[in-house]
Amino acid sequence: MSVAHAPRWPLGVALLGATGSIGSQALDVIDRFPDRFRVVGLLSGRRLPNRTARYTVRASDPDAGARVREMVTDPECDLVLVAVPGACALEPTLAALDAGKRLAIATKEVLVMAGEVVMRRAGPGAIRPVDSEHSAIWQCLWGEAPESVARLILTATGGPLLRHPGRDWRTVTVEQALRHPTWSMGPKVTVDSATLMNKGLEMIEAHHLFGLPLDRIEVVIHPQSVIHSMVQFVDGAAKAQLSHPDMRLPIALALSYPERLPGVVPPTEFARVGELELEPLDRERFPSVDLAREAARRGGGYPAVLNAANEEAVAAFLERRSGFADILPLVRSALDGFRPERADPPPGVAEPELAAILAADAYARQHVRERLGKVEE
Ligand SMILES: NC(=O)c1ccc[n+]([C@@H]2O[C@H](COP(=O)([O-])OP(=O)(O)OC[C@H]3O[C@@H](n4cnc5c(N)ncnc54)[C@H](OP(=O)(O)O)[C@@H]3O)[C@@H](O)[C@H]2O)c1
Repeated sequence: MSVAHAPRWPLGVALLGATGSIGSQALDVIDRFPDRFRVVGLLSGRRLPNRTARYTVRASDPDAGARVREMVTDPECDLVLVAVPGACALEPTLAALDAGKRLAIATKEVLVMAGEVVMRRAGPGAIRPVDSEHSAIWQCLWGEAPESVARLILTATGGPLLRHPGRDWRTVTVEQALRHPTWSMGPKVTVDSATLMNKGLEMIEAHHLFGLPLDRIEVVIHPQSVIHSMVQFVDGAAKAQLSHPDMRLPIALALSYPERLPGVVPPTEFARVGELELEPLDRERFPSVDLAREAARRGGGYPAVLNAANEEAVAAFLERRSGFADILPLVRSALDGFRPERADPPPGVAEPELAAILAADAYARQHVRERLGKVEE
C-alpha cells in the first residue's frame, strides 16, 4: 500500500460508529490534534455523541442511508473511519471509495464478506487498516518489496476463554465471554475473540489487504497483546510491531499516515513488560480459524455466509436467545447448507458479484434465524 494523496490539514473526518469503542477513541485522538483533524460527520446506532458536526446521523433516522452517503461523499470529507460492527458498513464503504475518499477500516466484516469488490474499488493506498494486527503488519511492510515477504503471522490473545477449564462451552455465560483480558472492545468483537472467530475474520481481512494467499497467513497465541503481529521475510528475518494494547495508536496512524503523531500512547518500558509468550493455536479447541479458512478457500459467497451466520449467532447469544456453544455449529450449518447457484443474481443486474454476496448474506441470516426459531419453539 502506498500514499494516495498528499494530506491537507486539518483532515476532514467522518466517523461511522462514533459512540463505539473505536469511535470514541478516535474522537480522543482527534481532540488531541485539532490542527490535524476536524470532524465533519458522525454516524451511530441509537445514541449520538455529544458533539456538533456538519452531519450527525442515527441509523434509525428515516433518511439515514441517503444522509450517510451524502456525508461520506461530501467534498469536506477527506477520510472515513469505518467502525460500525458488521455488514451494515458495506454500503457506506463502497460509496466512500467510489467518491475517491481515503478509508480507515476497523470493520473487518466488510473485507471478509466483500474483500475482492472492496479492494478492486479502492485506489492505491486508499485503505488503511485500523485493526491492531493489520496495522502492525502494515507497519512491518513499509519499505519492503512484496517478493521479500514469506508469511504474515497474526497474533491472538486467545480471548477471555483461553484458559477456561475443560472443553465444554455449554456453560459459558455472556458475562464470561465479555471479560476480555487485555482489550476493552464492543460486545460483538469481544465474543468473536472468545470463539477466536475474530482471528479467522482477521485472516481473511489480511488476505485481502495485503494480497497474500491464505496458506501464507498464520495465527499464533500471544496472551500479553504486546506483539501486535509479525511479518517473516524470505531471508528468515522477521519484523514485529510492539506497543501496549491501546487502539488509539493504530487509529491515529490510520488517520495521520504517513506521519507519526507524537505521544499518542505512552512508550512501552520493555524492562517492565515481563514475559512475552507465544504458543501454537489449539485448533481442536478453537476450530473457528479453520472454519474461516475453509470459507475463504471456497470463495464466492462463502465468506459472506460465514460472516453473516456468525453475526446472527453472536447477536442471539448476546441477547441470551442461544448459547455460546451454539455459535460455531450455526456457522457450520449455514456453510454446509449454502447453495451458491441460488445466490446467482438474474441476468442484467448491475453488479452481479455484489448482488451474489448480498444474497449469500441474506441466505445465512435467514438460515440461522430459522434454526434458532426451531430451537426456541
Ligand atoms: N473495539 C476494538 O478495539 C476493535 C479492534 C479492532 C477492530 N474492531 C472492529 O471495529 C468495529 C467496531 O467495533 P467497536 O468495538 O467499536 O464496536 P462498538 O463499541 O459496539 O460500537 C459500535 C458503534 O457502531 C454503532 N452502530 C451499531 N450498529 C449500527 C448501525 N446499524 N448503523 C450505524 N451505526 C451502528 C454504535 O452506535 P450506538 O452506540 O448508538 O449503538 C456504535 O457507535 C467492529 O467491526 C470491530 O470488529 C474493533
